[in-house]
Amino acid sequence: MLEEILKNIEVFSALDSASLSTVAARMKQIQLKAGDVICNEGEPGHSMFVLESGELSVQKRGKDKTLVEIARLRPGEVAGIMSLFGDESRSATLISTGEARLWEISNEDFQALVQSTPQIAHQLLKVLSRYLREETRIVAELRTRDVENRLKIAFFDSKPYTEEAFKDKNEDKYALQFFESRLSMETLVMAEGFKIVCAFVNDTLDAPVVKKLAAMGIEMIAMRCAGYNNVDLAACKEHGITVANVPAYSPHAVAEHAVALMLSLNRHITRAHSRVREGNFSLNGLVGFDMYGKTAGVIGAGKIGQCVISILAGFGCKVLVYDKFPREQTIPNVRNASLDEIFTQSDIITLHAPLIPETRHIISRESISKMKRGVMIINTSRGGLLDAHALVDGLVSGQVGSAGLDVYEEEKDYFFEDYSDMILKDDVLARLTTFHNVIVTGHMAFLTREALLNIADVTLNNVLEFENGLRMGSMKNGLA
Ligand code: NAI
Repeated sequence: MLEEILKNIEVFSALDSASLSTVAARMKQIQLKAGDVICNEGEPGHSMFVLESGELSVQKRGKDKTLVEIARLRPGEVAGIMSLFGDESRSATLISTGEARLWEISNEDFQALVQSTPQIAHQLLKVLSRYLREETRIVAELRTRDVENRLKIAFFDSKPYTEEAFKDKNEDKYALQFFESRLSMETLVMAEGFKIVCAFVNDTLDAPVVKKLAAMGIEMIAMRCAGYNNVDLAACKEHGITVANVPAYSPHAVAEHAVALMLSLNRHITRAHSRVREGNFSLNGLVGFDMYGKTAGVIGAGKIGQCVISILAGFGCKVLVYDKFPREQTIPNVRNASLDEIFTQSDIITLHAPLIPETRHIISRESISKMKRGVMIINTSRGGLLDAHALVDGLVSGQVGSAGLDVYEEEKDYFFEDYSDMILKDDVLARLTTFHNVIVTGHMAFLTREALLNIADVTLNNVLEFENGLRMGSMKNGLA
């Protein structure tokens, strides 16, 4: 009978029947009547009790020192379980409410049993380790539920792939809220109650928006991109908002996309694909050129530009490099050059400089007129580097042979959204999409798994540094 009761007590649940009998044999029976006190709150406890019949009142002293019943102990329930493992002080007073039968085992007897019967120790360990695992899980879960105390980050212009990567890297450390809307004067109210705003390339972070964000208590703008031409850094400084970006998440992703555009244009991959799908296997009009031996001009030789240079050098291209702050070029067939040399000598020109006032429309009507007839122009940097009207005219006249654009000056109105049910109102963009020798992708050069996870990792690390007081002000990386 006692063994049956013991078996249902969690701490003994892993004991086999022999061990249960050994424990039961060490227990002393106590017969109680109404009002008998079994133990008093606060006194040292040297034993555990198991109730076989009757009821015990579990009482604690209230503020005015009077005893208050907080629970009833019923048959099959235990009290003082922790006393088995040491002299724990009693957490409550136990008083019998009537006739009751109790079994008691002292910690001295229990510990002697454990020492003399290794299988009991072994079986107990199993339960205790299960307890430990469960408690650890509960603590971890409670921590993650402690939303109030976690730093809150509001994501704007969020997409499913953004959410996936950030959730993966966050591991519930910060409270993340993903909004699909872009950040603007109209939507900034969504950042109410947050300390950090995480924004992307097409969010508006001009002086009026920054001022309002500061008034709402935003302390940090964590850009999840490299470029930050949409952030008014002076306004952030004035209002004490820390700004961080992700200077490099995968230069390879962007460089490889630039080269993908080059190859697709040169070898007419999209046209060939649509033809074959229509059952048209004709090759007329699909003549490309060998990349080997051609001259490629790279404007902006930073992290992305350098990757492009080595890929093109690998193809056997002659690479001309223009950077405002030129570095020594050590790869064979790669040399620094002036902008004019690049314009006049290149078969392919690819842009990897940031958008700043002096690089705006670096590809202009004038520069296009200097280029080799039939030149290929690739822009994966920022739309503003290229005058799209001039490009359309160059394409119409044949001066420009082909163009691969991942960015567009007015992309903000369209990119990252589905407008397939609507009419494109931007005539230049609409015109660009009609040329068979132009490929437009919607600002996706960064979009690789590796880059997304790196973006999430670096952004959350920027937040961690801010949280730890290591990151204050704008752009620790020296970009601004
Ligand atoms: P980076 O800062 O490493 O390199 C930029 C280079 O441009 C530097 O070497 C700098 O000296 C040079 N530069 C500055 N002013 C110049 C000027 N007036 N003329 C010529 N060169 C100049 O930047 P990174 O990581 O290589 O990125 C380049 C650009 O790519 C970024 O500014 C960003 O706008 C764009 N980008 C586009 C992405 C996309 O998905 N399409 C993704 C990531 C970046």
